[in-house]
Amino acid sequence: MKVTSTLTVLLASLVQTVLSQDQFGPIQYDSIHNATAITGTWSSGSKNVVTGAGFADPVKVTFTYPKTTGVSYSFSDSMHYEIARYRFNSNGSEPTCITGIVSWVHGTYSLNANGSITMTPFPDGFQQIQDPCAAVSNFVEPYEFVEYYKGWRIFLDPNFGPKLHLFQFDGQPVAPMFQVSPTPNMLPTQPLRNIPSDVGKVRRSTSSASSVLDSQRTTVGLLFVGAVAMVLSSLLL
Ligand SMILES: *[C@@H]1O[C@H](CO)[C@@H](O)[C@H](O)[C@H]1NC(C)=O
Ligand SMILES: *[C@@H]1O[C@H](CO)[C@@H](O)[C@H](O)[C@H]1NC(C)=O
Repeated sequence: MKVTSTLTVLLASLVQTVLSQDQFGPIQYDSIHNATAITGTWSSGSKNVVTGAGFADPVKVTFTYPKTTGVSYSFSDSMHYEIARYRFNSNGSEPTCITGIVSWVHGTYSLNANGSITMTPFPDGFQQIQDPCAAVSNFVEPYEFVEYYKGWRIFLDPNFGPKLHLFQFDGQPVAPMFQVSPTPNMLPTQPLRNIPSDVGKVRRSTSSASSVLDSQRTTVGLLFVGAVAMVLSSLLL
């Protein structure tokens, strides 16, 4: 009895798996979503942000700032991706504190059966944050987040050709991107620098900025202690 019920459950779950895969289908072959394949290089707006050489130098951990903000994604047939982003974040409560963020990441992606995309980074991604109002106003940090996109669509724009819409994990759309090239424009699809020492380097450069701050704090602290001592001694006298 027990064996049969276990078997039934097993069979049921197998059927369910087959059904759900059937129901959603491998979306990359669905003509409704694909005016063209997702492979290639895509770029938003004025197309000044483009993946590949000329945006980030992962060996030196530097960026060449594009003329305007935007975002670019590349996807290869070998299931590699690369993302370049340049954006400004404004802060409602501090309108003068506009933060600039430029980031680069690459790795491998999968087109999931339920129409989502999972992007798993190599550990060499990084981003630079410029925040005029922060204690450390300019720093570089590792960027190695797995990104999950709920879905995607490719339409054919009558004037600008294939147009990619990506939807983030929460359904928020990424800025629409146009195809820059049907073949991906990407840096070599492998980790491009030795991470353990480099992450250390990135951390050291931010901590050297904070150690300047620390020594300023120490000076301020010493002055404060001195002032308190003077007040105390004048009270005692
Ligand atoms: C906006 O600025 C305030 C004050 O500096 C800060 O506490 C807050 O975290 C900022 N918000 C964002 C989204 O950056
Ligand atoms: C879609 O599939 C991916 C990969 O299997 C999974 O991680 C994700 O949770 C699924 N999403 C939903 C809404 O079922």
